[in-house]
Amino acid sequence: MDLISVEDINQRIEVLEASHAVATRLLALVERDDVGAREVATVLSADPVLVQRIMRMANSAYYGTGGRVRELHAAIAILGFDAVKSLALTSFVEGTGTITPQDWEHSITSAVGAAEVARMIGADQQQAFSLALLHDIGEAVIASLDSTFHELLTNRRAVPLTADGELTMLAVERKRYGLHHAAIGADMLESWNFHPDLVQAVAQHHTPKGSLSRTHAALVDGDRIAHLITCGLSIDQIRETPMVLLPHYVDDARLAGVMANVQARSAAMIADLF
Ligand SMILES: [Fe+2]
Ligand SMILES: [Fe+2]
Repeated sequence: MDLISVEDINQRIEVLEASHAVATRLLALVERDDVGAREVATVLSADPVLVQRIMRMANSAYYGTGGRVRELHAAIAILGFDAVKSLALTSFVEGTGTITPQDWEHSITSAVGAAEVARMIGADQQQAFSLALLHDIGEAVIASLDSTFHELLTNRRAVPLTADGELTMLAVERKRYGLHHAAIGADMLESWNFHPDLVQAVAQHHTPKGSLSRTHAALVDGDRIAHLITCGLSIDQIRETPMVLLPHYVDDARLAGVMANVQARSAAMIADLF
């Protein structure tokens, strides 16, 4: 297949936004500093699927609201604008039919993992959660251009992330498509005016360089925890895997406990959402 250029990505984003009036209006709105949850709610109310998702997420056990959130503006205030923006962007890409239940599972498990690591290292939990929700959005874009890509993803998620596996994965994508999913995702976030630090975190979620911002570190660890959970190996098998990538900020003694906690909380959120 043809290589994907940055222009192709931008064109795809433009097409998605143009077909989604809510996306365009939301984007213009959240750029303002003085915007409130009620104004965002008014714009989003034109998209029933997105509204349902936001309501379900705010009412999920994860947020401890006891299922009592009834109004959209209250749900937006609970999740925060970053998470609403992440859900909106995912929802627009989802319109291409390329986000599978397994992709959602990976996004949500990474998000719950990133928020947990953010809590442990004193980073912004809401920001880490929102960013991790979106970190692999580039994969959905590739899948919309290549129907065989999901097979590759399924194989990839059946094993834990390893240092050489990660580099091979990016090299394969770059060779096949011209850009890898992290670069595509970063380009999308940039066009959606996410903060440059968050764009960089997505661009380098597999290849972190230098000293990382705390949100970036939480994202990388959340992704690694999600891969460890999904691969289905025991802790002993994980430890025996050569070059396995373990989270930076979860020490060995706590790893099994953190994985069990993230798995239980993300499974509950997935059950509440779908
Ligand atoms: Fe990734
Ligand atoms: Fe990932």
